[in-house]
Amino acid sequence: MLLAHNYQRPEIQDAAHFVGDSLELSLKAVEVGAEVVVFAGVDFMAEQAAILNPGKVVLHPEPLSKCPMAAMLTPEVARRYREKHPGAPFIVYVNSSARVKALADYVVTSANAAALVSQLDADTVLFGPDRHLAEYVAEKTGKTVIPVPGFGHCPVHLAITRSDLERAKREHPGAKVLVHPECTRDVRALADFIGSTSQMLRAARELGARKYVVATEVGLVHRLSMLGFEAYPASPYGVCPDMKKITLDSVVRAVLERRGVVRVDPRVAERARKAIENTFELLGVSVPWRRS
Ligand code: 13P
Ligand code: SF4
Repeated sequence: MLLAHNYQRPEIQDAAHFVGDSLELSLKAVEVGAEVVVFAGVDFMAEQAAILNPGKVVLHPEPLSKCPMAAMLTPEVARRYREKHPGAPFIVYVNSSARVKALADYVVTSANAAALVSQLDADTVLFGPDRHLAEYVAEKTGKTVIPVPGFGHCPVHLAITRSDLERAKREHPGAKVLVHPECTRDVRALADFIGSTSQMLRAARELGARKYVVATEVGLVHRLSMLGFEAYPASPYGVCPDMKKITLDSVVRAVLERRGVVRVDPRVAERARKAIENTFELLGVSVPWRRS
């Protein structure tokens, strides 16, 4: 079974059995009956699929496809913040390593981060590694959200500037604007909708426009075009080189040669899985891998 993230190259999206955002892909990896899952996405996504599927073989076709933001939060830094703020729940974004997830109380994606934090019985929380998503969660919930570390960011979303977006709006009059919460606050301020990649796709149907400008990685333009919308990137610089490292050739090689088997230390995986389960439980969603 080939699962692909919304930012993958168009030909990989077209070949995949399922294309989705981080949350959907995690759930899909559990639901599918296949013994072998080929995960076309960056390192932490394949790792999360392996964490949730100890009985399946998860193949990551290109081991060098790594999210730089996930690498910005090390277990050592996570431990230091926890020690400094002992009463604050520690929420980590799915864009993080298994070892960091194993230190967290909750693991969220951009699709459920604000909902989770609003449910917590705490006014101050620790959130890492994306400081822009942390800021967005603070705006949505009114809580104090301490970014862990202070500088965590996605270089791809940071490259999308407000003036890029203003130019794209001028060039495509009447287009509505979809923004990923990893963007800076001044870009988010111009949004008609803010959400995860798949939430943006659903919003495009609901907002009722024919034309969209998207402030996120350019892969989403292909997804929107496949749904029949006119879609334009907010910036030509919004390209994630790590997502694009996976090619059809590397997918075929992974399958034929069983290359790129993802392995996670079982003790780390168990602790990380618990933090992921905590999120589903608090949000009142039945834990998919516990369903009979
Ligand atoms: P989504 O969960 O919205 O698909 O985002 C993942 C990601 O890496 C965004 O840069
Ligand atoms: Fe990481 Fe940004 Fe690429 Fe998403 S777009 S995988 S956050 S570098």
